[in-house]
Amino acid sequence: MINLNINIDKLEGFVSRESIYGFESQLALHQGSLLNKTGKGNDFLGWITLPDEIDEAMLASIESDAREIKEKADIYVVIGIGGSYLGARAVIEALQHNFASLLNKSERKSPLVVYAGNNISEDYLADLIDILDKYDYALTVISKSGTTTEPAIAFRILRNHLEKKYGIAEARKRIIAITDKSRGALKGLADSEGYKTYVVPDDVGGRYSVLTPVGLLPIAVSGFDIRAMVAGAKAMKELVTSANTIDTNPAFKYAAARNALYASGKPVEIMVNYQPSLVYITEWWKQLYGESEGKQNRGIFPAGVSFTTDLHSMGQYVQEGLRVIFETVLSIAKPGRNLSVPSASDDADGLNFVAGKRIHEVNRQAELGTLLAHVDGDVPNIVISLPEVNENNLGQLLYFYEFACALSGYLLDVNPFDQPGVEAYKKNMFALLGKPGFENQTSELRARLGL
Ligand code: PA5
Repeated sequence: MINLNINIDKLEGFVSRESIYGFESQLALHQGSLLNKTGKGNDFLGWITLPDEIDEAMLASIESDAREIKEKADIYVVIGIGGSYLGARAVIEALQHNFASLLNKSERKSPLVVYAGNNISEDYLADLIDILDKYDYALTVISKSGTTTEPAIAFRILRNHLEKKYGIAEARKRIIAITDKSRGALKGLADSEGYKTYVVPDDVGGRYSVLTPVGLLPIAVSGFDIRAMVAGAKAMKELVTSANTIDTNPAFKYAAARNALYASGKPVEIMVNYQPSLVYITEWWKQLYGESEGKQNRGIFPAGVSFTTDLHSMGQYVQEGLRVIFETVLSIAKPGRNLSVPSASDDADGLNFVAGKRIHEVNRQAELGTLLAHVDGDVPNIVISLPEVNENNLGQLLYFYEFACALSGYLLDVNPFDQPGVEAYKKNMFALLGKPGFENQTSELRARLGL
């Protein structure tokens, strides 16, 4: 059953119905190109069929590794950057206790997941080692290319730490590598050290890899139901790959609406959530859309806010700043917990009028009030709703975003599956660090920096 709903009623007055529905025939063609693999980036379309291809053997293997890690580790370190960690983190943070790090392992029933290799901060890694000195841990290093600097540095450090802490033989049993099936430094190392490995398929790019072991293993270690998540993705796949009108296909509707807004002079999309646990869903979405669409001097700029928190910071800009913004609200109908506002005999804060109401009800009215205020402030709003946050619904949501992103990229006439722009900083960094082969650029860059 499909639980995700998308509502574009609040675009009325900003973009015409014709400008949205005018994309319908193009979308049907692009849907065909994705399924027939005839469009741009057609060697990176393996993600489309992942929900059908994840077989029992793969799920059982991931669940068995997850059980083993749960038994031996208090902390589970996921090393990876970009698409190699954001999907797992998005789902884990959406589902886990908001204060998981303050619960003990028996309360959590799974190791605490921490992340490394997504920055090059010396302080972050040194602080992490302080913690890993004290707890039993296991790690999974994820890098499709096997050559990305950030995770490679983190893995060097943590592999040494693990070997010193447990000895080489046990350290090897505490490491799982997820990488290319045959290429890259990580694959070579994993083979020579005998680490358990999982493969990132050749035709699945990092930001589309959440339904491979890249996402599924960490999610399973955290104790969540990967079968329900895959089932949700599969249900969404069946819908978005077959329905071919804007009214029946939510991915068509989202891609058409945001492109109509973009064409009308709204190049910034802000993803809005009303739950702190959904911040990493936004982070994952930002990477998916930013890296897929931002090229050839075009693309909608993906930003994120967490309301009501950011209504007290970014709210002013959204309400009255430059009118180049539209918002997409991820609206959750039902909370996972149950808590009401208490009554106070002194009513010192004047809030007795909400006494007895669920906190979620207050949040919901804040959401609806904000929606109208922002629309009145010339910020069109798209609303994506889910009845609740659970594995099945997240599977639906992530697959929906992926398919809509591919369609939207094709509407923009870019290749949504490459990321050539990511190389520019890497080349400069390597030249400045004196990597062999980059000597010619080193002095030029140093001169430009006045060094
Ligand atoms: O979506 C992408 O392709 C990127 O974000 C990559 O996932 C990221 O750069 C990490 O690459 P790798 O997995 O090769 O280390």
